[in-house]
Order: sequence, then C-alpha cells, then structure tokens
Amino acid sequence: MNFKEHIRVIPDFPQPGIRFKDITTLLQNGPVYREAIDQMKALIKEKQIDVIAGPEARGFVIGAPLAYSLGIGFIPIRKSGKLPGETIEADYALEYGKDKLAMHKDAIKPGQKVLIADDLLATGGTIQTSIDLIKQLGGEVVGAAFLIELSYLDGRSKFNGIDVVSLVQY
Ligand code: PRP
Repeated sequence: MNFKEHIRVIPDFPQPGIRFKDITTLLQNGPVYREAIDQMKALIKEKQIDVIAGPEARGFVIGAPLAYSLGIGFIPIRKSGKLPGETIEADYALEYGKDKLAMHKDAIKPGQKVLIADDLLATGGTIQTSIDLIKQLGGEVVGAAFLIELSYLDGRSKFNGIDVVSLVQY
C-alpha cells in the first residue's frame, strides 16, 4: 500500500518553512489505518516487548492500537501537568518550539522491555527525551517504531544502539 497517498502535506504549518505531515487523512480511512498498524506490527515482530510507550498526542493513535493488537500494556508519555500521579519530567526541544514530557513514576517496572511508538520521527528530540525518562524508571528501550520518518533530519542518529523502524520515509 502507498501510505504517502493518504498522508496530507500542509506547507507552512505550524510555522513558515515546515511542511507538516498530516496523518488525520490516513487515520480517517479505516482500512488504511488498520493496514498501517498491521504493517508496523510486522516490522517489530521479532522483538520481545513487555510494554509500548507513546508520546502525546499522536503517539497515542499509533502506540495504543499496536499495544492492543499485541495484547500488551500501553504507557502514555504526556506533556507536563497532565498526569495525576507522581511523575518524573524532562525538558525537550522540538522541530518547532520546546516542551516538557512526563511519565508516572510507577509506569514501568525495572527491567521491563519497552518499545516506543510514535507517528513521526523528526529531529528525534521527543524520542530522546522519552528514552531518558524510560531509562530513569529502570526500563530497557528495545526499539522505536514510527509511522513516518523524516530521514533528511537524521533523528535516528541521536539514539545510537536503539533499533529504529519506520513505515514511510520522506
Ligand atoms: C510531533 C510528533 C512527534 C514529534 C516529532 O508531536 O507527533 O511526537 O513531534 O518531533 P521530534 O522528532 O523533532 O521530536 P508534537 O510534539 O507536535 O505533539 P502532538 O503529537 O501533540 O501534536
């Protein structure tokens, strides 16, 4: 399937010079959304994974269905101030702007094998910060899976030693 046909590219959003990859057009098409999740599942099928972690918000629409279909847990990595329990937090820089990510302190049991899932790998800042948080909690990051990878930004070079897979590359 040509997933790019279902991803809308919007120029100059959210700021001039950014060509925003809009996955809402893919998500709204049931068979295409399901096929994308199924193919991402195939990309990670050799891995031993205890839980999937996904960063807010678009990481949820990729990570949660993957976790459901594998029958394993899903851990939300949220923007600061959203999680009700005790958290650890870390600052991070985005392709545009910056923010703070948080996880519940008890979200991961020490030694658990965690796969990170997200819709898009750009600079890698979000995932680098997610890796740091997961490691702080004692988790082992066994890989990262993306629907889209912006290869020209070379985000994957930020996390040496972690297996990165993606379904669609630009
Ligand atoms: C986007 C995207 C990734 C991240 C990629 O999320 O969903 O999580 O940016 O960028 P990076 O590789 O340069 O870190 P965003 O923070 O815009 O939040 P959203 O999912 O809530 O829209």
